[in-house]
Amino acid sequence: METKKKKYNLPDGYSLFKTAINSVDFLNNPINFISKSMDVYSETYSTSLKRNKKIILTQNADFINYILKENHRNYKKSKLSTESAARFFGKGILFSNGDYWLRQRRLIQPAFHREKLQGLNNTIIKSISDFLTDFPTGESIDIVPIIHKLAFNILVKSLFDINLSPQIMEEISQIFSDLFEFLNKDVNQPFRKILYPVTGEKGKNLKKAKRLRDIFKRIITERKQENQNYTDLLDMLLNSRYEDTGEPMHEEQIIDELIIIIFAGHETTANTLSWLLFLLSCNIEILQKLTERLKNISVSESANDEYVKATISEGMRLYPAAWMTERVAIEDDEFGEFSFPKGTIIIPFFFGLHRNKYFWDEELKFKPERFIDDPKILKSKNYFPFGVGPRMCIGNNFAMTEMSLFVYLFFKEFEISATGQIPGMKPRITLRPDKIILNINRIKS
Ligand code: HEM
Repeated sequence: METKKKKYNLPDGYSLFKTAINSVDFLNNPINFISKSMDVYSETYSTSLKRNKKIILTQNADFINYILKENHRNYKKSKLSTESAARFFGKGILFSNGDYWLRQRRLIQPAFHREKLQGLNNTIIKSISDFLTDFPTGESIDIVPIIHKLAFNILVKSLFDINLSPQIMEEISQIFSDLFEFLNKDVNQPFRKILYPVTGEKGKNLKKAKRLRDIFKRIITERKQENQNYTDLLDMLLNSRYEDTGEPMHEEQIIDELIIIIFAGHETTANTLSWLLFLLSCNIEILQKLTERLKNISVSESANDEYVKATISEGMRLYPAAWMTERVAIEDDEFGEFSFPKGTIIIPFFFGLHRNKYFWDEELKFKPERFIDDPKILKSKNYFPFGVGPRMCIGNNFAMTEMSLFVYLFFKEFEISATGQIPGMKPRITLRPDKIILNINRIKS
């Protein structure tokens, strides 16, 4: 008997042929390309991966909310963003799916609760203060690599509150940066894979990943031999127990999660802070208001200060480090007028959502006050810097505290001014600035 082929109502968009001819434009500047396509089609459009395999891109708040939260059970992360990445970075919660992900998430989440994290505040403050001692000053300084190093130091110190030698710190940092670069290229230039057998690139990076695991393994072994309590994230992971069995994680799982915390928490925070300094340098009145505010609060109060939080939130609205994410439909699904088959990839485009002129008043303007005048928008479905639903960022409290403490400590010691150079956006796995060139002076006391 002949079975009738099911008809779906996919959003308008690019055919396979048009997708192919536009692929270079897309890869060169995905944010521009997606934004322009949304002007041509609509805030939800489709593109083709192969025959009968569609990708739907959307900046529609309700659709994003539906995929990531309301009907999240029907969606998982794609193979590319789980299995491919896991070969190098292990299968910690960012790169896993299904029951394994849920069990790990339940286990780890309590370590990231606000109260638990308070024990890390002193470590973070010390890391930032130490770093600021040698912070470069002068004219035309590119802050991007400097802030990246700072965010990396804070995270590693929060994971392992021990004195790692500068060589080991450098080695861990270099391996992460190499693996991150490799994964970026793997995702953005998939055709490069054909060359791996010739260039040996994959093998070299797998070796680096193994070396990283060996370093972490040694740290864990030394920790287990000590008879001392720490307040760092490693101790929290070592002490956590599965609800069902009461057992701890295996050592390899702890290593997976340590790597994931650095992977997910380093670039995101570094990029957010770099964009924030750029925005503040171009908005003198807001910078003045912020520094005035800091004069009246203590460092520990900064983490809960309304204006500090609003300033960081507004930075993340304009430059969300996680500018998009992706999910794959497990079964056929429909939303509004659209219906689509299982296997369809959906891309929630947070960058577009955060600059949607139908929701945001003066959408391109840096206006922290909007979060104070209407605090509800922080929790609205038009603002997802940390994602939404059960896979929402586990480190959001950590990141907000770290960034607030940085803002406080940095502006107590330094003044910045703009150079007129507008940074370019490099949307890869995260939204990087290419360079951010500022003038920086130490405030004379
Ligand atoms: C400004 C800084 C940060 C931003 C903008 C950010 C953003 C995000 C977003 C949007 C997601 C969800 C992705 C999705 O739904 O596919 C996510 C997940 C995650 N983030 Fe963050 N993040 C930040 C900092 C951190 C930090 C500091 C840590 C750890 C200390 C962290 C750990 C994680 C982990 C482990 C996940 C995976 C959660 C899961 O899949 O269950 N993030 N982050």
